[in-house]
Amino acid sequence: MTLRAVLAGAGSYLPERIVTNAELADRIDTSDEWIIERTGIRQRHIAGPHETAAYMGTRAAAAALAHAGAKASDVDVIILGTSTPDQAFPATAVAVQAELGTGGFGFDVSAACSGFVYGLSIADAMIRSGQVRGALVIGSEVYSRILDWNDRGTCVLFGDGAGAVFLRAEEQPEGSAGRGILSTHLHSQGSLGPLLYVDGAVGRPELSGHLKMNGREIFRHAVSKLASAVDEALAANGMHSADVNWLVPHQANLRIIDAMGRKLGLAPDRVVVTVDRHANTSAASIPLALSEAWHSGRMQRGDLLVLEALGGGLTWGSALVRL
Ligand code: UT7
Repeated sequence: MTLRAVLAGAGSYLPERIVTNAELADRIDTSDEWIIERTGIRQRHIAGPHETAAYMGTRAAAAALAHAGAKASDVDVIILGTSTPDQAFPATAVAVQAELGTGGFGFDVSAACSGFVYGLSIADAMIRSGQVRGALVIGSEVYSRILDWNDRGTCVLFGDGAGAVFLRAEEQPEGSAGRGILSTHLHSQGSLGPLLYVDGAVGRPELSGHLKMNGREIFRHAVSKLASAVDEALAANGMHSADVNWLVPHQANLRIIDAMGRKLGLAPDRVVVTVDRHANTSAASIPLALSEAWHSGRMQRGDLLVLEALGGGLTWGSALVRL
């Protein structure tokens, strides 16, 4: 037997307000057809003033705890991936801690769209080492606040929301048959930072604070790097694409998601897609997609999931999980 981080529950939160492509086309030079054809996005949720990363993350985390049948006192660590924290510090994770009333400790992870996969990897290591027994991993983002709403090349692509999972330490059979996180693989390449970044922050108030992206180059890197990340994850576990039940990818562009599904030889209904309704919610996209698919009853205990993401940094990575 071996100590594993088992996915005990998942939850999500989406702002009430939905903005359709048609609504954007009324304001900027774009069209519903262009957005759907190039990205697969049909609508996105946009946060109201009270819907901050902490507000949404707390609600997603509470839903994950309820799904897991866990209490606040079961949480030893909160790890929250975000690029849009409520403030420079304290971390958004400790604001969530205060509202949930958990003990232990918490901190944020800054890895852009890969923030949730990075957070899972850290939580997995903490659980395997015996440092913690219960971990909340959250992705929560309000990209609507860092977008240039006059830049049609970026503002149509993103949405707001939060997703969370609760991981519990459990003794499981060794090898890939056991449940829990089987492996995680993380990468970053700082030299590619200028392809996707936010111009400025609290320390550089003279800059715009808006997201800038070379979409075409990011697309190219995403397709090749995510394909290698998936190969790496399967090889590390002595597994093949035929062993995979579900792909739960970062939701940036339906064309990238479809390419990854084809690479794994998965039927389209085995690839979780939310980008059409949520757009790209950065670190929140994987836990939002996972939560939705799990709660719908489509996923079964014992299924093998591949999670993968790429984002600003560049950062990218994967997690192989037996549900
Ligand atoms: O989450 C982090 C990871 N992010 C990603 O993975 C995003 C990766 N990149 C992409 O998803 C795609 O590159 C985009 C969706 C961002 C862009 O799609 P594309 O097929 O690469 O288009 P493009 O940037 O090459 O632009 C094609 C044309 C351009 O016009 P010209 O120069 O050909 O005349 C753009 O100006 O489309 C134009 N365009 C638009 N037209 C209507 C760009 N944005 C829009 C728009 N509406 N919103």
